[in-house]
Amino acid sequence: MKGIVLAGGSGTRLHPITQAVSKQLLPVYDKPMVYYPLSVLMLSGIREILVISTPQDLPLFRRLLGDGSQVGIELSYAEQPQPNGLAEAFVIGADFIGDDDVALVLGDNIFYGQGFSRVLRESSRGLDGCMLFGYPVRDPERYGVGEIDADGKLLSIEEKPAHPRSNTAITGLYFYDNEVVDIARGLRPSARGELEITDVNLTYIRRNRARLTELGRGFAWLDTGTHDSLLEAGQFVQVLEHRTGVRIACLEEVALRMGYISADDCFALGAKLVKSGYGDYVMDVARAAGATG
Ligand code: DAU
Repeated sequence: MKGIVLAGGSGTRLHPITQAVSKQLLPVYDKPMVYYPLSVLMLSGIREILVISTPQDLPLFRRLLGDGSQVGIELSYAEQPQPNGLAEAFVIGADFIGDDDVALVLGDNIFYGQGFSRVLRESSRGLDGCMLFGYPVRDPERYGVGEIDADGKLLSIEEKPAHPRSNTAITGLYFYDNEVVDIARGLRPSARGELEITDVNLTYIRRNRARLTELGRGFAWLDTGTHDSLLEAGQFVQVLEHRTGVRIACLEEVALRMGYISADDCFALGAKLVKSGYGDYVMDVARAAGATG
């Protein structure tokens, strides 16, 4: 399975912060926002990942993440010149996807929860059609909203409905089989001129091939769409990391735990960041795994 991080868009809701820098590069406490969705793909066992962003911002992602080999993954990059919709990711990424299944994660989505890695691995391995992830929210009208039956089969999905049928928001993490490429290519732009991910999902529903995993109370799915929610996400990560001493979405640690890099490699990555607490943490994790440095 391949992975795509979609990290474009204009970030207008966060202006002036995002006037000169991409939203997905803003800090969420101790690391850039894009680390969080990238770690989700890595934890799913995906190692070939395409980062899509605007022509202006793409060089910055490249500078931050390079070719990915330092954390044992293969990163490639593609431009989305205009924010023409989430589903355009599959048109832009068609060659990259080839004949594979693909997971799409939005570059501004933050997930956290016990057992999440297991959920991710099971979802990617047992994929049949599409798998979406639902999360209960207070304000479902701001999101895609799904309705499921007792077996987890998705019955309906509506984008930002005025009168939501449930409080289950569809999160920005989507697993699809290879049909998604043809489906996305066949979409017509919506009234707001975008290739809508919800239209992709509706196609899977019509074909009876859409499922939804509900991420319940034990999970956190955080929004970074407004000044307040961005700050709150940072505070959430800070509180959790301070309390437990464990960092969330530390790519070097994820790579080590997934067996993508050795303990010594991990130590060397931490040593490069030695002036920050983040670097110290990476070195500690590597030492605990047997690094000799
Ligand atoms: O976050 C989950 C929600 O994401 C889902 O519940 C909705 O069903 C889905 O449509 C989407 O809603 P948003 O209102 O959050 O979509 P937005 O247009 O804000 O785009 C989400 C992110 O993707 C944002 O960081 C910008 C980026 N983006 C967006 C578009 C339209 C792109 O990179 N390219 C694009 O063309």
